[in-house]
Amino acid sequence: MSRQLFVTTALPYANGNFHIGHIMEYIQADIWVRYQRMMGNAVHFVCADDAHGAPIMIAAEKAGKTPQQFVADIAAGRKPYLDGFHIGFDNWHSTDGIENHQLAQAIYLDLKAAGLIATRVIAQFFDTEKNMFLPDRFIKGECPKCGAKDQYGDNCEECGAVYSPTELKNPYSALTGVTPVLRDSEHYFFKLSDPRCAEFLEHWTQGSNGRGQAHLQSEVYNKIKEWLLPDEAGQRDLGDWDISRDAPYFGIEIPDAPGKYFYVWLDAPIGYLASLKNRFIKLAGDSALGAQRYDAFMADPATEQYHFIGKDIITFHTLFWPAMLHFSGRKTPSAVFVHGFLTVNSEKMSKSRGTGLDPLKYLSLGMNPEWLRYYIAAKLNARNEDVEFSPEDFMARVNSDLVGKYINIASRAAGFISKRFGGRLGAISEDGAALLAALRAQQATIEELYEDREYARALRETMLLADRVNAYVDANKPWELAKQAGMEARLHDVCSVCIEAFAVLTTYLKPVLPTLAAQVEAFLGVAPLAFGQAAAALGQGHRIGDYQHLMQRVDVKQLEALFAPADAAPQADAATAPAAAALPGGEAIAPAIGIEDFNKLDLRIALIVNCEAVEGSTKLLRLTLDAGEGRTRNVFSGIAGACKPADLIGQLTVLVANLAPRKMKFGLSEGMVLSASHADEKASPGIYLLQAAPGARPGMRVH
Ligand code: 2FM
Ligand code: ZN
Repeated sequence: MSRQLFVTTALPYANGNFHIGHIMEYIQADIWVRYQRMMGNAVHFVCADDAHGAPIMIAAEKAGKTPQQFVADIAAGRKPYLDGFHIGFDNWHSTDGIENHQLAQAIYLDLKAAGLIATRVIAQFFDTEKNMFLPDRFIKGECPKCGAKDQYGDNCEECGAVYSPTELKNPYSALTGVTPVLRDSEHYFFKLSDPRCAEFLEHWTQGSNGRGQAHLQSEVYNKIKEWLLPDEAGQRDLGDWDISRDAPYFGIEIPDAPGKYFYVWLDAPIGYLASLKNRFIKLAGDSALGAQRYDAFMADPATEQYHFIGKDIITFHTLFWPAMLHFSGRKTPSAVFVHGFLTVNSEKMSKSRGTGLDPLKYLSLGMNPEWLRYYIAAKLNARNEDVEFSPEDFMARVNSDLVGKYINIASRAAGFISKRFGGRLGAISEDGAALLAALRAQQATIEELYEDREYARALRETMLLADRVNAYVDANKPWELAKQAGMEARLHDVCSVCIEAFAVLTTYLKPVLPTLAAQVEAFLGVAPLAFGQAAAALGQGHRIGDYQHLMQRVDVKQLEALFAPADAAPQADAATAPAAAALPGGEAIAPAIGIEDFNKLDLRIALIVNCEAVEGSTKLLRLTLDAGEGRTRNVFSGIAGACKPADLIGQLTVLVANLAPRKMKFGLSEGMVLSASHADEKASPGIYLLQAAPGARPGMRVH
């Protein structure tokens, strides 16, 4: 029976762009979601900006913006990352959204009604220079548990301990550097020390969900149990949790408590629910109906709820969050999946700075996002372990495994099928059938590995299967069969086996490589490949399309550029700048036209599915373009002197789609691609083909 899932990743603070650590988590969750959908399960995959808290309030103030505007500006920059790496959240919301205000207040009131909210006057650090209480992140000092220096007032990034700011050793104000004074303030607490909470959490953290899966990985439970379980003297580390902050604070007001706001970590996880609710409202197109459907979904015992998080925020998600949900009468998580950090060249990642691998730079260098998805998947397992990105290893895995073992299978066989057999698959004899049966027999294992988030093993198993197919190709040598008289049927047989095998392997890789899989589905002429049922053979007589190169290898120069320091980029020559500006690109701007003139041009995004030199021409390249029309176009472009055909394959460019076809000496040109060059070719040589930003799709109109 099909399952219904609600899946989240940790909500990123809205005070900076994503770093590679975020992208790794999103890729991990996205693969799992895609796998679930391939199993026929229904998934709502949501995230949001974690908008509240003092750091964002202060950062906004520094930037001269309201916190709301500041957060909105950060949110606006999220799309290129998410689209660029094919991360398909169904909804992106903000913890400052109305749904979160309402849900946080409702949950708080439910906890209060359950007798689990207390107030106490406590001494808080106060910055006499700034004249404000210093919340969490504005107090720094040494961690009371492990002694790490420069830790914030709420939790330690080194050891993960959660504590109150007054527990810090040698505290100082992060705003002014002064040693703060203590002042009294009334605070609100979630009474985690209540025996009901301890009892519930002891049970929940060791429990399992309806599928028999533990709520927590064993290593995660081992980490938190020291907090949870009573020591020999019967004492627990789990104290009441301070959930209020004093104004000024960017957050959600506590009902009936003027000047008091929820601590950001109270409303942040509630943001998961708020984003889901917001999705239901958008889907329904009506707030009341959407809210009703959200309530029904969350009340349905069949709904499963999963959170992907990093190891630094375990305590919030495995203790506070389940307790908040349970005692407010809500569904608790089916499981919390914790991953380690990503290290790059063995450098530990800092939460705020990320590592030396800039995701947008990666994309802007034209590096294939699916290389990174594949590499990260090849390193990830279900445990809370760090993952190391090593450029050499990255290149080896992509070039040798992904392209060398998998893509090659199709490229070795497809040409023969098209040229010699009219694109149709032939009869398969016993040895090939046995190989395919062995490949298909692994499907249940691969499914289980994805389900268990054992991606590295899923890919290892898949590559072992690819090895078997390549061994079959090497043993049968289709390139020699093709030259031998009377071997036509065997050639057809061997190549058909390869194409069938390629379809099976593509299924196994599809959660990791969704775009590539879509291209393969188009090439094979099949419906979306899926899990959950026995894979059907394409079968004798099935017609495939013309093979277009599917994936390039990583070029070492790309990796060098990726890790080159930012200031290594060539600098503009300031002395020539004014003259260049007068005649941009060496020529004056053309006379003005109206928008109606511009609109006559139909510019479309086109994928370069093939590119080759034109025999008899030193200037022209022949491009095969897919502009989303269900057919390809042939276009000649005078860029041969500037571009290598192999470099262009797989790139997205801009096509003038309504240019009348032109008959040329070498054939019909069905449009024109856009490129840039200086007016004076001698003064500034070079022709640059226009590329679309990652995320654009063939057929999209360029406005
Ligand atoms: O650590 C962080 O980046 C937090 N913004 C994560 C919040 S996750 C959830 F609780 F919202
Ligand atoms: Zn510590």
